[in-house]
Amino acid sequence: MNKKILVIPGDGIGQEVTTWGKKVLEQIAKKYNHTFSFDEAIMGHTAIEATGNPLPDETLAKAKATDAILFGAIGHIKYDNDPSAKVRPEQGLLKIRKELGLYANLRPIKLFDELLGASSIKPQILKGADILFFRELTGDVYFGEKKRSEDRNTASDLMIYSRYEVERIAEKAFKAAQTRSKKLCSVDKANVLESSRLWREVVQDVAKKYPDVQTEHMFIDNAAMQLIKDPKKFDVVLTANLFGDILTDEASQIAGSMGMLASASIGDSVGFYEPIHGSAHDIAGKGIANPLASILSVALLLDISFGLKTESNAVITSVEKTLKQGYRCKDIADSTTPIDKICTTSQMGEIVISNL
Ligand code: IPM
Ligand code: MG
Repeated sequence: MNKKILVIPGDGIGQEVTTWGKKVLEQIAKKYNHTFSFDEAIMGHTAIEATGNPLPDETLAKAKATDAILFGAIGHIKYDNDPSAKVRPEQGLLKIRKELGLYANLRPIKLFDELLGASSIKPQILKGADILFFRELTGDVYFGEKKRSEDRNTASDLMIYSRYEVERIAEKAFKAAQTRSKKLCSVDKANVLESSRLWREVVQDVAKKYPDVQTEHMFIDNAAMQLIKDPKKFDVVLTANLFGDILTDEASQIAGSMGMLASASIGDSVGFYEPIHGSAHDIAGKGIANPLASILSVALLLDISFGLKTESNAVITSVEKTLKQGYRCKDIADSTTPIDKICTTSQMGEIVISNL
């Protein structure tokens, strides 16, 4: 298979982790006789520094012309405590999601048995948990009109959804539920929000087309609680942009660490693959970031964008093997991890590749 992959490392640890995602792709190409050609582009703080624009036209043009995108992370502390900054790294990520029509963000919560002890939740609560989030990604309060009063003392963000936006992601989520345990939980705040009442109405309509899927509706506050109380009760979770952002960070703790979770953003054309973690400037450049979320994003890329199921499984299996051998990056190590099994970013990457 002949494919083009655009790597956008972004900011902070993005560079360190995508280096290993890319090396894993190269190894897969070698092992299974594919030709993957790579290009690279800038986005976020890195792009602001170089061009003044968090999503330069050149990056967008390259993104539109490639077969899949491997992205690292975005953000810089400089902006976090400066709410007045007009140009922000995150604008690059939001714009590329919108421009590429990436309306469905899939976030699988895959729990490796070896990491049961890495979570702050009791192992008996976690064991067997397996959740696939469908987070809507190009609507909601993220993209609704933003306003600030003239005296600057009042501000608003419009929480807005249209029927078609809910329908198209609901269709994807129900189809996925059919291939899993045929259970779907739609999360909203329909007891308060009008946009959530539309959301629920549309999901109920779409559900009629999938009578084999058991559909449940849950309020976001309750879902946030149930998720750590009994994560096993969830299978496919379908939710809006903001609720999904928050719930999936919470759910990452089921998998032990943010450093383990991959995501796929799909929609109209090209697929975009990234860890759910951020740029983590506190550890950037220290060589200790966990590359597994990026490597697992590569597994999603191979499966979803290229249809290479065997290759995708090979990546997951090699991660599993690495964990079985006891290797851990700092974020997933605990008091029982022997010191010689604690890995830097590169050591972890090398071991996964040798297991491949
Ligand atoms: C995520 C991130 C982004 C989001 C930020 C960086 C804009 O938190 O992908 O979950 O809020 O969508
Ligand atoms: Mg987030």
